[in-house]
Amino acid sequence: MKDNKVYIVMVGLPARGKSTIATKIKEDLKNDYIKTRIFNNGDLRRKLIPDNTSIADFYNPENREGAALREKIALINLERAREYLRGNGNVAILDATNASLARRKKILSLLGDHPILFIECINNNEEILEASIRRKVQTPEFGHLTTGQAISSFKERISYYTPIYTALRKEANFIKMNSLYKKVLQEEIRDNIPYYDQIRDLLVTDTVKHLYLIRHGETYFNLENRIGGDSDLTKNGVLQAEALAQYFTKKKIPLIFTSDKKRTIQTAEPIKALQEECAIIPLAEFNEIDSGICECMSYEEIRREMPHVYRARKMDKYNYIYPEGEGYATMKERIDRGINKVIYLSDTSKNIMIIGQRATNRMILSHFLFRREEDVPYIYIPQDKFYYISAAQNRKVFQLKRYE
Ligand code: F6P
Repeated sequence: MKDNKVYIVMVGLPARGKSTIATKIKEDLKNDYIKTRIFNNGDLRRKLIPDNTSIADFYNPENREGAALREKIALINLERAREYLRGNGNVAILDATNASLARRKKILSLLGDHPILFIECINNNEEILEASIRRKVQTPEFGHLTTGQAISSFKERISYYTPIYTALRKEANFIKMNSLYKKVLQEEIRDNIPYYDQIRDLLVTDTVKHLYLIRHGETYFNLENRIGGDSDLTKNGVLQAEALAQYFTKKKIPLIFTSDKKRTIQTAEPIKALQEECAIIPLAEFNEIDSGICECMSYEEIRREMPHVYRARKMDKYNYIYPEGEGYATMKERIDRGINKVIYLSDTSKNIMIIGQRATNRMILSHFLFRREEDVPYIYIPQDKFYYISAAQNRKVFQLKRYE
Protein backbone atom coordinates (compact mmCIF):
# COMPACT_ATOMS: atom_id res chain seq x y z
CA MET A 1 0.00 0.00 0.00
CA LYS A 2 1.26 3.49 -0.77
CA ASP A 3 2.58 5.29 2.32
CA ASN A 4 0.80 8.57 2.95
CA LYS A 5 2.91 9.58 5.92
CA VAL A 6 6.17 11.46 5.96
CA TYR A 7 8.58 13.19 8.33
CA ILE A 8 9.97 16.54 7.27
CA VAL A 9 13.17 17.48 9.05
CA MET A 10 14.22 21.12 8.88
CA VAL A 11 17.97 21.79 8.88
CA GLY A 12 19.92 25.02 9.20
CA LEU A 13 21.59 27.52 11.50
CA PRO A 14 19.35 29.73 13.66
CA ALA A 15 17.53 32.61 11.91
CA ARG A 16 17.59 30.97 8.48
CA GLY A 17 13.83 30.94 7.98
CA LYS A 18 13.17 27.33 8.99
CA SER A 19 10.11 28.03 11.11
CA THR A 20 8.59 30.30 8.47
CA ILE A 21 8.91 27.52 5.91
CA ALA A 22 7.60 24.90 8.34
CA THR A 23 4.53 27.05 9.03
CA LYS A 24 4.00 27.66 5.33
CA ILE A 25 4.04 23.91 4.62
CA LYS A 26 1.68 23.23 7.52
CA GLU A 27 -0.81 25.93 6.50
CA ASP A 28 -0.85 24.78 2.90
CA LEU A 29 -1.23 21.08 3.60
CA LYS A 30 -3.84 21.74 6.25
CA ASN A 31 -5.95 23.55 3.66
CA ASP A 32 -5.79 20.37 1.66
CA TYR A 33 -6.99 18.29 4.63
CA ILE A 34 -3.57 16.70 5.03
CA LYS A 35 -3.00 16.38 8.76
CA THR A 36 0.23 18.19 9.55
CA ARG A 37 1.87 19.17 12.83
CA ILE A 38 5.06 21.03 13.70
CA PHE A 39 7.31 19.77 16.49
CA ASN A 40 9.47 22.74 17.38
CA ASN A 41 12.34 22.17 19.81
CA GLY A 42 12.52 25.83 20.82
CA ASP A 43 8.82 25.95 21.76
CA LEU A 44 9.13 22.75 23.77
CA ARG A 45 12.24 24.07 25.53
CA ARG A 46 10.43 27.24 26.56
CA LYS A 47 7.53 25.19 27.86
CA LEU A 48 9.46 22.51 29.70
CA ILE A 49 12.28 24.56 31.15
CA PRO A 50 10.91 27.56 32.95
CA ASP A 51 14.48 28.75 33.68
CA ASN A 52 16.00 31.17 31.30
CA THR A 53 17.40 29.21 28.36
CA SER A 54 17.90 32.22 26.14
CA ILE A 55 21.44 32.61 27.53
CA ALA A 56 23.96 31.72 24.87
CA ASP A 57 25.92 29.36 27.11
CA PHE A 58 22.99 26.96 27.09
CA TYR A 59 24.01 26.20 23.49
CA ASN A 60 27.72 25.84 24.19
CA PRO A 61 28.63 22.23 23.34
CA GLU A 62 31.03 22.31 26.33
CA ASN A 63 28.08 22.96 28.61
CA ARG A 64 27.16 19.37 29.38
CA GLU A 65 24.02 20.13 31.25
CA GLY A 66 22.73 22.34 28.42
CA ALA A 67 23.65 19.76 25.78
CA ALA A 68 21.90 16.98 27.72
CA LEU A 69 18.75 19.07 28.08
CA ARG A 70 18.71 19.94 24.39
CA GLU A 71 19.16 16.28 23.51
CA LYS A 72 16.31 15.35 25.81
CA ILE A 73 14.02 17.90 24.18
CA ALA A 74 14.93 16.64 20.72
CA LEU A 75 14.13 13.07 21.76
CA ILE A 76 10.78 14.03 23.26
CA ASN A 77 9.83 15.70 19.98
CA LEU A 78 11.00 12.72 17.93
CA GLU A 79 8.85 10.47 20.06
CA ARG A 80 5.87 12.83 19.76
CA ALA A 81 6.29 12.98 15.99
CA ARG A 82 6.34 9.18 15.82
CA GLU A 83 3.21 9.00 17.92
CA TYR A 84 1.53 11.55 15.68
CA LEU A 85 2.17 9.54 12.54
CA ARG A 86 1.24 6.34 14.35
CA GLY A 87 -2.13 7.96 14.94
CA ASN A 88 -3.99 9.85 12.22
CA GLY A 89 -1.27 12.42 11.37
CA ASN A 90 0.15 12.52 7.83
CA VAL A 91 3.05 14.95 8.01
CA ALA A 92 5.25 15.55 11.06
CA ILE A 93 7.62 18.49 10.72
CA LEU A 94 10.64 18.50 13.02
CA ASP A 95 11.55 22.14 13.34
CA ALA A 96 15.00 22.59 14.90
CA THR A 97 18.53 23.28 13.67
CA ASN A 98 19.24 19.53 13.27
CA ALA A 99 22.63 20.86 12.27
CA SER A 100 24.99 18.07 13.28
CA LEU A 101 25.48 14.75 11.54
CA ALA A 102 25.14 13.01 14.89
CA ARG A 103 21.67 14.47 15.43
CA ARG A 104 20.57 13.51 11.94
CA LYS A 105 21.90 9.97 12.36
CA LYS A 106 19.81 9.68 15.49
CA ILE A 107 16.75 10.92 13.64
CA LEU A 108 17.33 8.41 10.85
CA SER A 109 17.76 5.56 13.29
CA LEU A 110 14.71 6.42 15.38
CA LEU A 111 12.29 7.37 12.65
CA GLY A 112 12.53 4.44 10.30
CA ASP A 113 8.81 3.79 10.02
CA HIS A 114 8.11 6.36 7.25
CA PRO A 115 10.20 8.23 4.68
CA ILE A 116 12.10 11.34 5.77
CA LEU A 117 12.50 14.48 3.70
CA PHE A 118 15.20 16.89 4.88
CA ILE A 119 14.83 20.56 4.00
CA GLU A 120 17.91 22.68 4.52
CA CYS A 121 17.55 26.46 4.71
CA ILE A 122 20.50 28.59 3.70
CA ASN A 123 20.74 32.36 3.85
CA ASN A 124 24.01 34.19 4.18
CA ASN A 125 22.72 37.66 3.45
CA GLU A 126 24.22 39.64 6.35
CA GLU A 127 21.71 42.47 6.23
CA ILE A 128 18.74 40.12 6.37
CA LEU A 129 20.29 37.99 9.08
CA GLU A 130 20.80 41.09 11.14
CA ALA A 131 17.17 42.16 10.62
CA SER A 132 15.94 38.65 11.33
CA ILE A 133 17.92 38.48 14.59
CA ARG A 134 16.50 41.87 15.57
CA ARG A 135 13.01 40.43 15.11
CA LYS A 136 13.80 37.28 17.06
CA VAL A 137 15.14 39.08 20.10
CA GLN A 138 11.86 40.95 20.47
CA THR A 139 10.28 37.76 21.83
CA PRO A 140 9.58 37.57 25.62
CA GLU A 141 12.45 35.12 25.99
CA PHE A 142 14.88 38.03 25.68
CA GLY A 143 12.76 40.47 27.65
CA HIS A 144 15.28 40.74 30.51
CA LEU A 145 18.09 41.92 28.20
CA THR A 146 18.66 45.19 26.38
CA THR A 147 18.34 44.92 22.57
CA GLY A 148 22.13 45.13 22.22
CA GLN A 149 22.74 42.37 24.78
CA ALA A 150 20.04 40.18 23.25
CA ILE A 151 21.50 40.55 19.75
CA SER A 152 25.00 39.59 20.87
CA SER A 153 23.61 36.69 22.90
CA PHE A 154 21.75 35.40 19.83
CA LYS A 155 24.85 35.77 17.67
CA GLU A 156 26.87 33.86 20.26
CA ARG A 157 24.24 31.12 20.09
CA ILE A 158 24.72 30.94 16.33
CA SER A 159 28.49 30.75 16.79
CA TYR A 160 28.06 27.58 18.89
CA TYR A 161 26.15 25.92 16.09
CA THR A 162 28.49 26.95 13.29
CA PRO A 163 31.31 24.43 14.00
CA ILE A 164 28.92 21.46 14.34
CA TYR A 165 26.83 22.41 11.32
CA THR A 166 27.21 19.92 8.48
CA ALA A 167 25.35 20.63 5.27
CA LEU A 168 23.13 17.92 3.77
CA ARG A 169 24.97 15.76 1.29
CA LYS A 170 24.48 12.06 1.71
CA GLU A 171 20.90 11.94 2.92
CA ALA A 172 18.64 9.99 0.58
CA ASN A 173 15.95 12.65 0.29
CA PHE A 174 16.66 16.32 0.61
CA ILE A 175 16.01 19.77 -0.72
CA LYS A 176 18.58 22.45 -0.10
CA MET A 177 17.24 25.91 -0.60
CA ASN A 178 18.07 29.55 -0.43
CA SER A 179 15.36 30.56 1.97
CA LEU A 180 15.55 34.26 1.19
CA TYR A 181 15.10 33.89 -2.56
CA LYS A 182 12.99 30.73 -2.33
CA LYS A 183 15.30 29.02 -4.75
CA VAL A 184 16.08 25.32 -4.76
CA LEU A 185 19.87 24.97 -4.80
CA GLN A 186 20.11 21.19 -4.83
CA GLU A 187 17.78 18.25 -4.45
CA GLU A 188 18.03 14.51 -4.18
CA ILE A 189 14.96 12.32 -3.97
CA ARG A 190 15.54 8.57 -3.91
CA ASP A 191 12.45 7.33 -2.09
CA ASN A 192 8.81 7.79 -2.72
CA ILE A 193 8.04 10.91 -0.67
CA PRO A 194 4.32 11.53 -0.14
CA TYR A 195 3.15 15.04 -1.13
CA TYR A 196 6.59 15.77 -2.61
CA ASP A 197 5.35 17.56 -5.76
CA GLN A 198 3.08 19.77 -3.73
CA ILE A 199 5.74 20.63 -1.14
CA ARG A 200 8.47 21.26 -3.73
CA ASP A 201 6.25 23.68 -5.63
CA LEU A 202 5.13 25.36 -2.44
CA LEU A 203 8.71 26.02 -1.35
CA VAL A 204 9.32 28.25 -4.35
CA THR A 205 5.94 29.98 -4.26
CA ASP A 206 5.54 33.43 -2.76
CA THR A 207 2.87 33.04 -0.14
CA VAL A 208 1.20 35.87 1.73
CA LYS A 209 -1.96 35.34 3.68
CA HIS A 210 -3.02 38.97 4.04
CA LEU A 211 -0.93 41.67 2.40
CA TYR A 212 -2.12 45.27 2.51
CA LEU A 213 -0.40 47.32 -0.16
CA ILE A 214 -0.88 51.02 0.43
CA ARG A 215 0.25 54.15 -1.32
CA HIS A 216 1.41 57.03 0.90
CA GLY A 217 -1.00 59.90 1.58
CA GLU A 218 -1.04 63.09 -0.43
CA THR A 219 2.22 65.10 -0.48
CA TYR A 220 3.11 68.69 -1.41
CA PHE A 221 4.79 67.31 -4.51
CA ASN A 222 1.59 65.48 -5.48
CA LEU A 223 -0.26 68.82 -5.44
CA GLU A 224 2.20 70.21 -7.99
CA ASN A 225 2.49 66.99 -9.98
CA ARG A 226 6.21 66.84 -9.11
CA ILE A 227 8.00 63.53 -9.21
CA GLY A 228 10.51 61.86 -6.88
CA GLY A 229 12.03 63.91 -4.08
CA ASP A 230 11.30 63.50 -0.40
CA SER A 231 8.25 65.63 0.20
CA ASP A 232 6.17 65.70 3.41
CA LEU A 233 2.50 64.78 3.64
CA THR A 234 0.03 67.64 3.29
CA LYS A 235 -2.71 68.16 5.88
CA ASN A 236 -4.96 66.09 3.68
CA GLY A 237 -2.24 63.40 3.49
CA VAL A 238 -2.06 63.28 7.29
CA LEU A 239 -5.86 62.93 7.41
CA GLN A 240 -5.62 60.05 4.94
CA ALA A 241 -2.97 58.39 7.12
CA GLU A 242 -5.20 58.83 10.16
CA ALA A 243 -8.17 57.36 8.33
CA LEU A 244 -6.02 54.37 7.36
CA ALA A 245 -4.93 54.04 10.98
CA GLN A 246 -8.55 54.02 12.10
CA TYR A 247 -9.51 51.47 9.45
CA PHE A 248 -6.73 49.11 10.49
CA THR A 249 -7.52 49.19 14.21
CA LYS A 250 -9.76 46.22 13.38
CA LYS A 251 -6.69 44.24 12.34
CA LYS A 252 -3.39 43.37 13.95
CA ILE A 253 -0.48 44.77 11.97
CA PRO A 254 2.79 43.59 13.54
CA LEU A 255 5.06 45.04 10.85
CA ILE A 256 4.80 47.91 8.40
CA PHE A 257 7.37 47.96 5.62
CA THR A 258 7.92 51.35 4.02
CA SER A 259 10.51 52.97 1.79
CA ASP A 260 13.17 55.31 3.19
CA LYS A 261 11.07 58.27 2.09
CA LYS A 262 9.32 60.58 4.54
CA ARG A 263 5.96 60.28 2.81
CA THR A 264 5.72 56.54 3.41
CA ILE A 265 7.01 56.69 6.99
CA GLN A 266 4.67 59.58 7.82
CA THR A 267 1.78 57.48 6.51
CA ALA A 268 2.89 54.52 8.64
CA GLU A 269 3.30 56.43 11.90
CA PRO A 270 -0.39 57.02 12.76
CA ILE A 271 -1.12 53.38 11.89
CA LYS A 272 1.62 52.18 14.23
CA ALA A 273 0.35 54.53 16.95
CA LEU A 274 -3.07 52.82 17.04
CA GLN A 275 -1.67 49.28 17.06
CA GLU A 276 -0.72 47.40 20.22
CA GLU A 277 2.49 45.97 18.86
CA CYS A 278 3.83 47.27 15.61
CA ALA A 279 7.22 48.14 14.13
CA ILE A 280 8.04 50.18 11.04
CA ILE A 281 10.80 48.73 8.86
CA PRO A 282 11.99 51.12 6.12
CA LEU A 283 13.52 49.32 3.14
CA ALA A 284 15.49 51.23 0.49
CA GLU A 285 14.36 48.55 -1.98
CA PHE A 286 10.91 50.15 -1.92
CA ASN A 287 12.08 53.70 -2.71
CA GLU A 288 10.27 55.37 -5.56
CA ILE A 289 11.62 55.12 -9.10
CA ASP A 290 14.75 57.28 -9.33
CA SER A 291 13.94 59.78 -12.02
CA GLY A 292 17.59 60.95 -12.34
CA ILE A 293 17.90 64.34 -14.00
CA CYS A 294 14.13 64.77 -13.75
CA GLU A 295 13.92 64.39 -9.95
CA CYS A 296 11.63 67.01 -8.41
CA MET A 297 10.41 68.31 -11.79
CA SER A 298 6.73 68.39 -12.68
CA TYR A 299 5.45 66.35 -15.64
CA GLU A 300 4.68 69.67 -17.36
CA GLU A 301 8.25 70.91 -16.85
CA ILE A 302 9.63 67.68 -18.26
CA ARG A 303 7.41 67.97 -21.32
CA ARG A 304 8.49 71.57 -21.88
CA GLU A 305 12.16 71.45 -20.94
CA MET A 306 13.10 67.88 -21.88
CA PRO A 307 10.82 66.91 -24.74
CA HIS A 308 13.17 64.07 -25.74
CA VAL A 309 12.70 62.48 -22.27
CA TYR A 310 8.97 63.01 -22.43
CA ARG A 311 8.66 61.42 -25.86
CA ALA A 312 11.00 58.50 -25.26
CA ARG A 313 9.25 57.60 -22.02
CA LYS A 314 5.86 57.76 -23.66
CA MET A 315 7.03 55.39 -26.40
CA ASP A 316 8.11 52.63 -24.02
CA LYS A 317 7.41 53.55 -20.43
CA TYR A 318 8.36 50.17 -18.96
CA ASN A 319 11.83 49.99 -20.49
CA TYR A 320 12.66 53.69 -20.53
CA ILE A 321 15.44 54.61 -18.10
CA TYR A 322 15.60 58.21 -16.88
CA PRO A 323 19.08 59.65 -17.61
CA GLU A 324 21.11 59.06 -14.42
CA GLY A 325 18.13 57.30 -12.92
CA GLU A 326 16.02 54.17 -13.27
CA GLY A 327 13.19 52.70 -15.28
CA TYR A 328 10.46 50.22 -14.37
CA ALA A 329 12.50 47.42 -15.95
CA THR A 330 15.60 48.22 -13.92
CA MET A 331 13.62 48.55 -10.67
CA LYS A 332 12.46 44.97 -10.92
CA GLU A 333 15.50 43.39 -9.30
CA ARG A 334 15.40 45.58 -6.20
CA ILE A 335 11.63 45.37 -5.81
CA ASP A 336 11.80 41.56 -5.94
CA ARG A 337 14.61 41.72 -3.38
CA GLY A 338 12.39 43.89 -1.15
CA ILE A 339 9.49 41.44 -1.44
CA ASN A 340 11.78 38.56 -0.52
CA LYS A 341 12.94 40.51 2.52
CA VAL A 342 9.36 41.21 3.57
CA ILE A 343 8.38 37.57 3.27
CA TYR A 344 11.50 36.40 5.09
CA LEU A 345 11.07 38.83 7.97
CA SER A 346 7.33 38.36 8.40
CA ASP A 347 5.24 35.64 9.81
CA THR A 348 3.45 35.07 6.53
CA SER A 349 0.43 33.63 8.28
CA LYS A 350 -0.19 37.07 9.78
CA ASN A 351 -1.07 40.48 8.33
CA ILE A 352 1.64 42.25 6.38
CA MET A 353 1.56 45.89 5.36
CA ILE A 354 3.68 47.65 2.77
CA ILE A 355 3.45 51.41 2.25
CA GLY A 356 5.13 52.47 -0.96
CA GLN A 357 4.85 54.99 -3.75
CA ARG A 358 3.16 54.82 -7.12
CA ALA A 359 5.79 53.12 -9.29
CA THR A 360 7.01 50.82 -6.50
CA ASN A 361 3.47 49.68 -5.76
CA ARG A 362 2.88 48.95 -9.44
CA MET A 363 5.95 46.74 -9.43
CA ILE A 364 4.94 45.00 -6.18
CA LEU A 365 1.46 44.34 -7.55
CA SER A 366 2.82 42.97 -10.78
CA HIS A 367 5.03 40.59 -8.79
CA PHE A 368 1.88 38.85 -7.56
CA LEU A 369 -0.52 39.59 -10.41
CA PHE A 370 0.44 39.06 -14.01
CA ARG A 371 0.31 42.14 -16.22
CA ARG A 372 1.95 42.63 -19.60
CA GLU A 373 5.13 44.69 -19.08
CA GLU A 374 3.74 47.47 -21.25
CA ASP A 375 0.75 47.79 -18.89
CA VAL A 376 2.64 47.71 -15.60
CA PRO A 377 3.52 51.45 -15.58
CA TYR A 378 -0.18 52.28 -15.87
CA ILE A 379 -1.58 50.13 -13.05
CA TYR A 380 -4.07 52.16 -11.05
CA ILE A 381 -2.56 53.12 -7.66
CA PRO A 382 -4.92 55.55 -5.92
CA GLN A 383 -4.34 57.28 -2.59
CA ASP A 384 -7.84 56.82 -1.19
CA LYS A 385 -7.87 53.04 -1.60
CA PHE A 386 -5.44 50.17 -0.99
CA TYR A 387 -4.85 46.75 -2.46
CA TYR A 388 -5.52 43.63 -0.45
CA ILE A 389 -3.57 40.63 -1.72
CA SER A 390 -3.77 37.05 -0.60
CA ALA A 391 -1.53 34.69 -2.52
CA ALA A 392 -1.02 30.97 -2.03
CA GLN A 393 -0.19 27.99 -4.21
CA ASN A 394 -3.83 27.32 -4.98
CA ARG A 395 -5.47 30.70 -4.62
CA LYS A 396 -4.98 34.36 -5.44
CA VAL A 397 -7.18 37.18 -4.24
CA PHE A 398 -6.89 40.82 -5.22
CA GLN A 399 -9.15 43.52 -3.97
CA LEU A 400 -8.99 47.29 -4.30
CA LYS A 401 -10.59 48.61 -1.14
CA ARG A 402 -11.65 51.99 0.09
CA TYR A 403 -10.56 52.84 3.62
CA GLU A 404 -12.39 56.10 4.21
O1 F6P B 1 3.91 61.43 -8.87
C1 F6P B 1 4.23 60.56 -7.87
C2 F6P B 1 5.21 59.50 -8.28
O2 F6P B 1 5.31 58.59 -7.21
C3 F6P B 1 6.61 60.02 -8.67
O3 F6P B 1 7.48 60.23 -7.59
C4 F6P B 1 7.09 58.95 -9.63
O4 F6P B 1 8.16 59.38 -10.46
C5 F6P B 1 5.83 58.66 -10.38
O5 F6P B 1 4.77 58.78 -9.45
C6 F6P B 1 5.77 57.30 -11.01
O6 F6P B 1 4.66 57.22 -11.86
P1 F6P B 1 4.86 57.33 -13.48
O7 F6P B 1 5.80 56.21 -13.81
O8 F6P B 1 3.50 57.11 -14.00
O9 F6P B 1 5.46 58.64 -13.81
